[in-house]
Amino acid sequence: MPGQDEFVVTPYEVKGRIDYERLREQFGTQSVTPELLAKLHHIAGGELPPALARGIYYSHRDLPALLDGFAHGTPFFLYSGRGPSGPLHTSHLLQFQLCQWFQQRLGVPMYIQITDDEKFWSSKTGIAREETAHWGLENLIDILALGFDPKRTHTFFDSRSIAALYPLAIRIARKVPYSTVKAVFGFTPSTNIGLVFYTALQTVPAFWPSWAEGRPIPCLIPCGIDQDPHFRISRDMAESLGYPKPALLHSQMVPGLLGESVMSTTGDRSDNALFLNDPPHVVERKVRNAFTGGRATVEEQRRLGATPEVCSVWALWRTQFAESESKFADVTKGCRSGALLCGECKSQLLERVGRFYRSHAAAREKVKDWAESTIVTVAPHPL
Ligand code: TRP
Repeated sequence: MPGQDEFVVTPYEVKGRIDYERLREQFGTQSVTPELLAKLHHIAGGELPPALARGIYYSHRDLPALLDGFAHGTPFFLYSGRGPSGPLHTSHLLQFQLCQWFQQRLGVPMYIQITDDEKFWSSKTGIAREETAHWGLENLIDILALGFDPKRTHTFFDSRSIAALYPLAIRIARKVPYSTVKAVFGFTPSTNIGLVFYTALQTVPAFWPSWAEGRPIPCLIPCGIDQDPHFRISRDMAESLGYPKPALLHSQMVPGLLGESVMSTTGDRSDNALFLNDPPHVVERKVRNAFTGGRATVEEQRRLGATPEVCSVWALWRTQFAESESKFADVTKGCRSGALLCGECKSQLLERVGRFYRSHAAAREKVKDWAESTIVTVAPHPL
């Protein structure tokens, strides 16, 4: 077990209280600087995505070069993915909302990977294949409902897209020694061999458009920083296969509603997150019970103010539900000063969350008709 200030972050394990700056240094990635944000702001025509403006995406690899290339006429594509182990919760949407923002502003293609194989192999609780396949499609519908453009959005649904992925996976797998995956992912002798191969499949989409078109097309991957180890492997081999190294944009892990420093994606207690299939009364109960940064009494809170940085409700405002920077600033200021009490803050949030759930449900219905048509099943070349 890690000690007090130790932590472990890999795609298959997140443990301890994460010091994000130290993690960034350990991984050897760059910080998202004000200069970089200014560059993006300029390229996007005077706007910034909320998750970048609020520091949730705090680390990157090679993003400035990709943006400069775009500004000089070299378009890139987006790639992100989801391991379908169950229903999505609101924090899972973060990376896809960022992608949707880029697609809408810059008109770039999006590739989504749904890893129903990975989740079957990595599940510690023994999830059934029927379940990973079922959630794969449900999750895909939720993702597409965020507003992706059907004409520019493509899905690799691993078990169904394997013929399209495999010719490239063959080449990639040959470049990855067992000692690398063992060290990078912490595999042990009992790890099943599916997972040993899997990282090759997660690299494929980063090179796929370049392979399909026969010319180098830059790739940008927004993801949780826990996924970086996969893409270090992709980046290390990219040039030897003749493809550009993918650029990365890393987010912090969103804390759960129960307020522990656990990875929200693996939270096994369902009260730790707002799932997209939670009915309104469950959402209400979860928010009302959520851990806050409030004081013991109203009097104390009015006098001393509360602590947004430790509050799971503030985290929801920050990551998802404050629709503007001014709303986000108001909530933060009200909390810190003691003017906004937790009960009132939760009521305001619930109203906002309710609106989101209703519009998301309507968007899902529209997407259902075409979601499956985004799934790529055919390889562009035999080799
Ligand atoms: N491994 C990811 C997960 O467990 C799924 C995934 C596949 C992914 N490709 C990706 C995540 C690209 C981010 C970016 O959820």
